Parts: sequence; C-alpha cells; structure tokens
Amino acid sequence: MNTTFLQACKGEPVQHTPIWIMRQAGRYLPEYHKVRSKGTFLELCKTPELAAEVSIQPVDILGVDAAILFSDILVPLEAMGLPLEFHEKHGPLFPEPVRDRAAVDRLIIPDPETDLKFVMDTIRILRRELADKVPLIGFSGAPFTLATYVIEGGSSKSYFQTKKMMYAAPELYRALLDKITECTILYLKAQAAAGAQALQIFDSWAGVLEPCDFAEFALPYVKRIVAALQGCGVPIIYFANNGATLLDLAKTSGADVLGIDWRIPLRDAVAKVGQGVSLQGNLDPCALLLPPDKLEKRVAGILAEGRAARGHIFNLGHGILPETPPEKAKLLVELVHRLSQK
Ligand code: CP3
Repeated sequence: MNTTFLQACKGEPVQHTPIWIMRQAGRYLPEYHKVRSKGTFLELCKTPELAAEVSIQPVDILGVDAAILFSDILVPLEAMGLPLEFHEKHGPLFPEPVRDRAAVDRLIIPDPETDLKFVMDTIRILRRELADKVPLIGFSGAPFTLATYVIEGGSSKSYFQTKKMMYAAPELYRALLDKITECTILYLKAQAAAGAQALQIFDSWAGVLEPCDFAEFALPYVKRIVAALQGCGVPIIYFANNGATLLDLAKTSGADVLGIDWRIPLRDAVAKVGQGVSLQGNLDPCALLLPPDKLEKRVAGILAEGRAARGHIFNLGHGILPETPPEKAKLLVELVHRLSQK
C-alpha cells in the first residue's frame, strides 16, 4: 500500500510528500458528470456503488495518495430529521431551519448503521475496491459549521441567525450543538469501524468567528469529538477554513493534523503550531490556473516550507473549483511527487 498519507499524518518520514485534493471527486471531472447525470446529487450519495465509483475516479485519473469518501457534510443532518434539498443554483437548503427549543427537541440522534447505512456501505465497497492501493479518508462537518446550515436554512453571508442564537439564546445554541456533536461522534466512529483509515472534520465557516467566540462556541465541540475518537486508532484531521487567526486555538483541538488555507504562509503556520501536529495544505485553488512554470515555483515553495512541519500533506487550501481543467489537477499531483521525491 502507498502509506505516505498515513505516515505524514503521524509525522513519520516519507518517500515523497503525499497529496490529495479537497473535493477531488467532483464537478471538474467529466467522468464525475457522467455518473452524476444519472440522478440528483443526494441520490448519488445514497447509491453506494456509484458513490464508490466517483470516490475512486481521482485515484485512477490523478494518482492522488488518498481517496475520500463521496458524500456531503450535510447528509447526517437529514438523518437527524431535517429535510435537505440541493439546488443547482442556490446550493444546499434546509426548508425547516432550527431556531427554537421545539425544533432542537425534535432532532433525533441517528443510528449510523441503519439510518446512514448507505455511507457505511460506500466505505466497505471502497475498501474492497481500493484493495489497499491508497488509504480511505472518512469525514464529517464540524458542529459549528453544521449548525450554521441548519440555523440559517442554507448558506449565508453574515451568519446573522447563527450569531444571534449564540449571543441571545446561548442555552438553545448549546443544546443544538450538543445534539449535533453526539450525532457526529457516533457517525465518525461508525465510519472508522466500517473501514475509514483517517477522518477529516471540516469546519468550513469557522473563519467567520472572532477568536473568543471560536474558543467558546466552536472549538469545545471539536475537542469533544476528537477525544471521543481516540480509541478508533485512525488519524484525525481538523480543517478550520480561513483559520489563520485561530491556529493558536486550533492546535489545542487534539487532532493529529491541521488543515491550512492559503491566507497564511505555511512557514508561519508551522511557527504557530510547532511540532505537536502535522499540517495539510495550502495552495490557493485558483493558483492551478498559473502558467506551469509559476505553478511549479509555488508548489516547490510550499513543499520547502512544509519540510519544517512535523509532517506535511499537500492539498489545496479549500476545495478544487468546478471550473478547473482536470489536466491542471493532474499536473499538480505530478509536481508534488516529483519535487518531493527522496
Ligand atoms: O472532497 C470530496 O471529493 C468528497 C466529497 C465532498 C462533497 N462535499 C461533495 C459535494 C465533501 C468532503 C464535501 C464537504 C462539504 N459539503 C463541505 C466542506 C468542505 C468545504 O467545501 O468547505 C461543505 C461546506 C459542504 C456543503 C455543500 N455541499 C455545499 C455548500 C454545496 C453546494 C455548493 C457546491 O460546491 O456545489 C454542496 C454540494 C456538493 N458536495 C457537490 C459535491 C460534489 C456538488 C453537487 C453536484 O454534483 O451538483
């Protein structure tokens, strides 16, 4: 097996710097569109054979060093009892947002092996089909990020409703976050039991919080999840997007790896977190559109800075954009492998 990804998570020496790409299974690949055209996005997530097929596409096409489960962070919220829709233009929608005690009380804690069986089946198929070629990453959203979707009813610009609940009804906010956290712990434990070999927690909107609010209203739930997963024996990656100002706090999460976005030089991130964790990142997704020689320089720079970290996994600083030409993603993987080869 190509174990470079798992070794880098633990800070062990590697033959080359491993790379995978956030959203590597997705709309920039014509092969993805072909499978996706058979139904809706949620139908694809709920059909394990097809979900596994699109998870494997980037492993075969790009040669990345890890596969990631094909699903969405919002899928377990639907299993908690909240109707979920994905619209081509508007993205995800929760038509019944959670804003009062009755709505929080109605939320159920799903049993992952029954209510989210399609996810566990996808993981089992993936482990069989990957045949130990590369490790498989499972994932969830972080409680704060998940809460923003259910409180706002979808994506948001100002996160007004979320912050209003945090500030004006903190007990309600805490009750909601407690339930999402409990669900997430069971969900991630089940993913590890089904065969996920690493787990990433996506905190996509953590960067909208003042550090003191991150410390009070977001990080404690992440810590609870990481602590609960200690017995699973798989590395945990915590990615707080747009989180340069939160790194001092994020490094106390207990995660083995911290995801870093491009707004901070990797060297500065290493200086902030020290040698207690590995780092994952951090090329701007748009930098894939640089001319090849400039892209190479930038990749070499990130690799050089990453050498100072306990371990480094190359990735973009956020998901690859649907407009990206697939050849650019392929070139990136080649560059990282060639430039970091021992
Ligand atoms: O990384 C991978 O390849 C695995 C699959 C994956 C998806 N979503 C598939 C997806 C993962 C890990 C996610 C996580 C996710 N989902 C996050 C965290 C990462 C991040 O980007 O910050 C978030 C915030 C979501 C919520 C979400 N899902 C939004 C806001 C949208 C609509 C906007 C968009 O990017 O399309 C989605 C839809 C979604 N999730 C698609 C895919 C491939 C597009 C669906 C389609 O085919 O139409």
